[in-house]
Amino acid sequence: MEKDLETILITGGLGQIGYHAYSELKSRYNVILLDDQSSPKVAPPDDVTLIKGKIQDHKIYESIPDVDFILHCAAQININKSVENPIFDANVNILGTIQLLEFARKINVERFIYVSSAATYGQPQFLPITEDHPKNPVSPYGMSKYVAEKYVLLYSQLYNLRSSVVLPFNIYSSLQKENDPYSGVIYKFIKKVKNNESPIIEDDGKQTRDFVHAMDVVKAIELILKNEKAIGRIFNVGTGIKTTILELAELIISISGKDISPKFVEPRKGDIRDSYASIELAKELLGFSPSIKLEEGLTELYNKIM
Ligand SMILES: NC(=O)c1ccc[n+]([C@@H]2O[C@H](COP(=O)([O-])OP(=O)(O)OC[C@H]3O[C@@H](n4cnc5c(N)ncnc54)[C@H](O)[C@@H]3O)[C@@H](O)[C@H]2O)c1
Repeated sequence: MEKDLETILITGGLGQIGYHAYSELKSRYNVILLDDQSSPKVAPPDDVTLIKGKIQDHKIYESIPDVDFILHCAAQININKSVENPIFDANVNILGTIQLLEFARKINVERFIYVSSAATYGQPQFLPITEDHPKNPVSPYGMSKYVAEKYVLLYSQLYNLRSSVVLPFNIYSSLQKENDPYSGVIYKFIKKVKNNESPIIEDDGKQTRDFVHAMDVVKAIELILKNEKAIGRIFNVGTGIKTTILELAELIISISGKDISPKFVEPRKGDIRDSYASIELAKELLGFSPSIKLEEGLTELYNKIM
């Protein structure tokens, strides 16, 4: 550890957001990763302190030194698993967050950043979704992320914990996996096209999503870290651009240069039809603007997937 650098603890540091944050911040901060390795996207890097443990286990905090910043990414992110086992989901996402908040309060961190989720909004009542959109989660996962978000803001009010919330929409990156609950569709389409098969679109393909690259989420996190105006606030992080699932399929086909057409099948029950973010608050207050175009991010992923 370098003496004059500030220290940041990243929970879920071996996951998609946590690892991208580590890669970006490691030259300017001493980074400590906390991860239970239950669903890592990468192997532990050699040059970092990794604490292997569960956020909901209070004993783990005895082995963590005082840090200046906490970025809380660790979560149970599987929606189906949350429906099957809501108690496990709440244990990790709610109780785990409270344990971490208690640690943050005890050591009086400079800033606590919680990574929430667009799943907290539930079925959109208007578009684009602003931060003051009503929150009616439709899954135990959405509910646990919402309750944890409320706790983070409560700690800000009650204990003056300097906390901020980042609320990403559909994150993707080269660490994408097929079973990703948010952007798994990207991986599935690329796999099909690579195999010279048609990407399969459920419904008419006109449903919309806001796909944001993980590095742009990290960009927003960095803008929040030392911004006093961000304390006690929630920031949607997306691109503000709606992409239809058909456009996504066509873009992937065009990147491949192949002569393939998508295939349409019956819609899935309970799917949210349209979702995209208003990012006006992050633009105004943080000067945030996403840098990675969907075509660029998809090309990177297309070239990586075998
Ligand atoms: N992926 C998305 O599109 C998306 C969108 C919105 C919000 N989010 C939120 O962003 C955060 C990060 O998501 P991600 O895509 O990087 O997920 P991820 O699954 O890639 O990473 C999560 C990491 O947390 C670790 N982990 C899981 N349970 C743990 C526990 N109990 N204790 C310690 N570590 C644990 C896993 O091993 C994994 O390395 C999550 O809080 C998620 O709710 C993700």
